[in-house]
Amino acid sequence: MPAIGLGTFGSDQISADEVATAVTGAIEAGYRHLDCASVYGNEHAIGPAIQQSGIKRDDLWITSKLWNDQHSRVLESCRQSLSDLRLERLDMYLVHWPFPNFHPPGCSVDSRSPDARPYIRENFMDTWREMEKLVDLGLTRHIGTSNMTIPKLRLLLRDARIKPAVNEMELHPHFQQPELFDFVRANGIEPIAYSPLGSPGRPERDRTPHDTVDIEDPVIAAISQRLGIHPAAVCIKWAVQRGQTPIPFSVKRRNYIANLECVTTPPLTAADMSAIAAVDKGCRLIKGQVFLWRDNQSWEDLWDLDGVIKS
Ligand SMILES: NC(=O)c1ccc[n+]([C@@H]2O[C@H](COP(=O)([O-])OP(=O)(O)OC[C@H]3O[C@@H](n4cnc5c(N)ncnc54)[C@H](OP(=O)(O)O)[C@@H]3O)[C@@H](O)[C@H]2O)c1
Repeated sequence: MPAIGLGTFGSDQISADEVATAVTGAIEAGYRHLDCASVYGNEHAIGPAIQQSGIKRDDLWITSKLWNDQHSRVLESCRQSLSDLRLERLDMYLVHWPFPNFHPPGCSVDSRSPDARPYIRENFMDTWREMEKLVDLGLTRHIGTSNMTIPKLRLLLRDARIKPAVNEMELHPHFQQPELFDFVRANGIEPIAYSPLGSPGRPERDRTPHDTVDIEDPVIAAISQRLGIHPAAVCIKWAVQRGQTPIPFSVKRRNYIANLECVTTPPLTAADMSAIAAVDKGCRLIKGQVFLWRDNQSWEDLWDLDGVIKS
């Protein structure tokens, strides 16, 4: 899997065509890894961009994801993504969230689906068995998870015939998730880092007054000034050197090129890496409130903070 991918979630603000134009430019500039998902609503526009790039299929790495209301329609959903992306097979197909809950695109943070349910191991495993079949059918080379916790991954690792190859998880300097990071690596699961820049363009619903801003962190700013690079580039260098695969989003040519180029320049020093390790604030930005399944719950209930799966 290429060490950096291009994110394609337009955060409910950037149109499908704008993202597709960025995909075309990013592939031209050298990107070979795209992080897609059906819920981003733009796979139909990205497909032609991939097709027209002229790059050999085997030289590209394309990820897509199963949305939460499709947990019992794995084959149909995967086929739809393949058709939209104009591909015969994916490189990676992920279960986007462990919760089977529908919410309309762009809904508010207080929105709750009346038929929302918690994670239930048996149901998740039914979905996973269908994911495994996709590999058997040759529709994807690998399968993986996203937004999982250690207790949920332990159960999956125990019960899966095909283990998840990756776990896509929020990872940036202010949210380093060291325990989960170490757990996945110890279990041969590659961590893919979403929102690697701290998602400065995330939707309003994902903002709270307590959120911190990675690219304004004084340690990161000082390193960026010393090296003459943008703080975003410091975040990406740190991610790759730490051993995670960042998938920064950008539709600005200057930015997506800088995000790829920055790992071809001399690495951060060991002292820089230690200094950034120390700025972790445990600040989760993508809290997932819309996936809660009961009234009077808080977003922490989604993340099994005490090591026990909430039901
Ligand atoms: N699995 C999941 O549940 C999940 C959740 C969230 C995200 N993701 C994936 O992860 C990808 C990335 O996460 P994200 O989009 O939340 O956040 P991100 O990559 O951390 O941040 C993207 C924002 O940073 C800006 N930016 C990018 N490069 C820059 C640079 N060099 N200098 C200054 N600003 C820069 C972009 O604006 P410009 O366009 O103006 O450059 C955009 O607003 C998503 O697109 C999606 O593919 C997955």
